[in-house]
Amino acid sequence: MPTIQWKIESENEVESTNILALKRARMGESEGLVIRALSQTNGRGRMGRKWFSPPGSGLYFSALLRPPVATDQTALISLIAGVAAAEGIADITRSSVGLKWPNDLRLGGKKTGGILCEYESAGGPSPAIVVGIGINLKIPPNGFPEEFGKRATSIEETGTTVDGGETLHAILERLDYWYRGFLEDGFGDIRSRWEALCDNLGERIHLSAAGKSIEGKMVGIDHSGHMLLELPTGEVREFESGEVVEG
Ligand code: BTN
Repeated sequence: MPTIQWKIESENEVESTNILALKRARMGESEGLVIRALSQTNGRGRMGRKWFSPPGSGLYFSALLRPPVATDQTALISLIAGVAAAEGIADITRSSVGLKWPNDLRLGGKKTGGILCEYESAGGPSPAIVVGIGINLKIPPNGFPEEFGKRATSIEETGTTVDGGETLHAILERLDYWYRGFLEDGFGDIRSRWEALCDNLGERIHLSAAGKSIEGKMVGIDHSGHMLLELPTGEVREFESGEVVEG
């Protein structure tokens, strides 16, 4: 499978790079489009949240993919993107970046980046997945909105100043590698790599799922990317969605 030819478009301020990339997907844009912005006025996060996207502080971009796989496989793209982003940031910073299911990027247990994948079936030969990635590059500890508490960090706190463009290229290089590996050989290697990068594997966590808080030990992910949680009874249950609220 050939390397993806990324077509990077840079914007100053946009509402949301995901919104723009979804619009382009509906217009039939092919795989490989990347929209990057220096700031977003309505950056979208998971679970309907906003993504804090002030100018001069982060890397915000969306990459358009058209994976020729069954719809039930497309959820895996977001875990693939998590692995790619963790490796790309680690390549640039030489710091170890951890993953928290499903795809928070963490430094020292605090969130430094997130991924929001959105699906668009209209407008192309195969459905599009817009992979939206936001990374806090340069935000001082007291620079985050109050509701983040002490759970957020930025790469600058590792003592490294990184360039957004360089980080973008490092992530796209890893995304190309893992995405092509997935299309050629399936999810197996990515699953192992994801688990190796997971920074709370084997730890006791609280998962908020379907309105309940469930306590258990995070023991991995399955072939569908679902979280595997070992309950106090010893039973291992899989969760397709939810949020780790502690741990
Ligand atoms: C999360 O909640 O953890 C996911 C955050 C994803 C934010 C990125 S920033 C670039 C892209 N455009 C958006 O509107 N959201 C994603």
